[in-house]
Amino acid sequence: MGVLKEGNYKVDRPYNISNSTRRWLKSLVTGAAVCLLIFALYRKKSGHCMWGRGGHGHGIGSVNWSPASECSPGTECGSVIVPKDYFDPSAGTASVAIAVFKATKSPKKGTVFLNPGGPGGSGTRLATKELANLIGDDWDLLGFDPRGINKTEPQVQCFDSASDFNFFVANTVLQQGFTVTSSSNLSDPAIEAQLVEQSREFLALKKSQAELCAKNMGDELRYMGTATVVRDMDFMAKLFDGEDGKINYWGGSYGSILGAYLVNMLPHRAGFVVIDGIVDPVNWSTEPSHKWPINWLASTEKTYRFYLETCSRAGSDACPLTQYTGEPYEEIEARLEAFFDALAISPLPVPFGFRPGFLTSGAARALLLMYLERPPQWADSALALSQAMAGNGTLLFNKLATPRPPSNPHYDLARLGVTCMDSPPPKTPAEVPTAEDLAAEFMKTMREVSPHFGASVSVGEPDGGCQYWPVQGPERFAGPWNATLEWPMLIVSNTMDPITPIESGIRINSLMPDSTRMIIQDGPGHCSSAIPTLCTMKLIRGYYAGTLPENGTMCGTAYTYFPDPSQKPEPTLATAGLSADDTKLLNSALTVGELLQAIRRA
Ligand SMILES: *[C@@H]1O[C@H](CO)[C@@H](O)[C@H](O)[C@H]1NC(C)=O
Ligand SMILES: *[C@@H]1O[C@H](CO)[C@@H](O)[C@H](O)[C@H]1NC(C)=O
Ligand SMILES: *[C@@H]1O[C@H](CO)[C@@H](O)[C@H](O)[C@H]1NC(C)=O
Ligand SMILES: *[C@@H]1O[C@H](CO)[C@@H](O)[C@H](O)[C@H]1NC(C)=O
Ligand SMILES: *[C@@H]1O[C@H](CO)[C@@H](O)[C@H](O)[C@H]1NC(C)=O
Ligand SMILES: *[C@@H]1O[C@H](CO)[C@@H](O)[C@H](O)[C@H]1NC(C)=O
Repeated sequence: MGVLKEGNYKVDRPYNISNSTRRWLKSLVTGAAVCLLIFALYRKKSGHCMWGRGGHGHGIGSVNWSPASECSPGTECGSVIVPKDYFDPSAGTASVAIAVFKATKSPKKGTVFLNPGGPGGSGTRLATKELANLIGDDWDLLGFDPRGINKTEPQVQCFDSASDFNFFVANTVLQQGFTVTSSSNLSDPAIEAQLVEQSREFLALKKSQAELCAKNMGDELRYMGTATVVRDMDFMAKLFDGEDGKINYWGGSYGSILGAYLVNMLPHRAGFVVIDGIVDPVNWSTEPSHKWPINWLASTEKTYRFYLETCSRAGSDACPLTQYTGEPYEEIEARLEAFFDALAISPLPVPFGFRPGFLTSGAARALLLMYLERPPQWADSALALSQAMAGNGTLLFNKLATPRPPSNPHYDLARLGVTCMDSPPPKTPAEVPTAEDLAAEFMKTMREVSPHFGASVSVGEPDGGCQYWPVQGPERFAGPWNATLEWPMLIVSNTMDPITPIESGIRINSLMPDSTRMIIQDGPGHCSSAIPTLCTMKLIRGYYAGTLPENGTMCGTAYTYFPDPSQKPEPTLATAGLSADDTKLLNSALTVGELLQAIRRA
């Protein structure tokens, strides 16, 4: 368990820093100390610093700072040269892009590493003054692009161009999602038969994608797993905070996986660690990726019902999905289901969308699921859905275009680069998932957990097809998950998170009862930043300042989900009567929430 033998590399437990890494680090320490000094004195002049093997900024442990003009305002940015493979020095080096928002208050406590989720999200964008408001002014905040992602080299680039990628996914099941003919009678065998058919297309596309990646990336794909990224953080913490510098961390969504791996792989290295929007790491590391959604959707139906009830209470001016204020939520739900079922028979033509196209039932359900993650967009969702129900699918369809900015066309393959390294490979041919297996898993998920969204995860979370992935990583961590920590990790869960349910937070807490504290935000959305609350944010900031909250502390939410359009413009956050510091904290939280969303999906 937890040990992967791959090629010639044998990884031994416990997951302490490996001998080879230790050797590297030893050779670096002296150089590093001298260099840090030189670096402190001359950084501004020389622009970079180097030590270790190589030189000219290419040696392991080199930090190459970019000119300020290339960094976001207020940050220092550049790259750190790390061993590409911590178990094989002959693999050479990788360059990890970093951006640091420096502590403004002294004494400085250390460095906090940041991860926005995805996986595939660029962390360099998180080094901002808003994050500093949430975590504290006395920390250096280090955002980094994880392996394969954005400015970290080597970068995942499977397709030759963005337009190749866009052509590849356009109008396929990858973009349109899986259509379920009718969710009202799952015993109709036609439903599963259609899911099998769509799964065949899905697997063919995934295989095609994987073969392209194999050709264009080859072995470079081996180093994107979460375990490798944990070792990068360890390496960088020693570099920036010294041999004994602990690894402090803040991460949400997939970032909770990185945090859970960190504290369990290197418990003696963990410092202040906060994870928010929890993914179950046991499930993630032991189940193949097509079996993840059944675990992720535990709170989805509850969130959906809350959405419908809130819409009904808001009335039809604010939420056009309801016919009158106080309409039973079941009636709104029945109209939406009738719409999805009609689309399953005849997709809606959308001639004037971001490109001409059509809206399928699968896409419409997947979009609703993504909206449920983001309460600040619920009013928009009601408008887009009601227009589509009236025959104009433009607004809703355009949401399909937003997941991928042209500047970052390889988003979902970067994600696969990570998930295919983390999820266990099939051990026998019988374990290789077939189209029938995928369809059966969808049916099980709809029957047991989420009848409305059981087949709707793949658009927002494009996993799958790892059986075709060309490589295995040097290391795959799979527990144990019950590490003992000096300073407990803080777990943050929402009661209605439609994609990372509270059950996953409780699972980590129950595996590490004395080494974690769990706080709960009582409200909907993905991660606590979905609806900023002073209560949650103060507990998090207090944690980094040394105050452990009581386990089980509950924070309420107050939010206007469907603002009355006649009263616009309504302030998004009620800050009247708050202190300047609280207002700043709340606004920072709001900005961070928007930033996280933009990075994960933008
Ligand atoms: C990195 O991400 C930023 C922000 O999304 C983007 O503008 C930039 O083009 C990306 N760089 C690379 C090399 O992918
Ligand atoms: C559900 O579908 C099955 C199989 O087609 C059929 O026998 C059954 O009558 C249907 N149930 C309802 C309530 O429509
Ligand atoms: C993964 O989650 C599902 C649903 O919660 C559960 O049935 C399954 O047993 C879990 N597997 C592991 C290894 O935790
Ligand atoms: C459809 O909706 C879009 C977006 O709201 C709008 O710009 C367009 O005019 C509408 N088309 C028609 C035919 O109403
Ligand atoms: C941690 O979990 C492992 C594997 O499940 C188990 O063997 C071990 O006894 C546990 N350790 C503690 C301290 O509970
Ligand atoms: C921590 O609080 C959560 C939420 O109330 C609860 O489920 C869990 O059992 C508590 N854990 C411990 C170790 O008391």
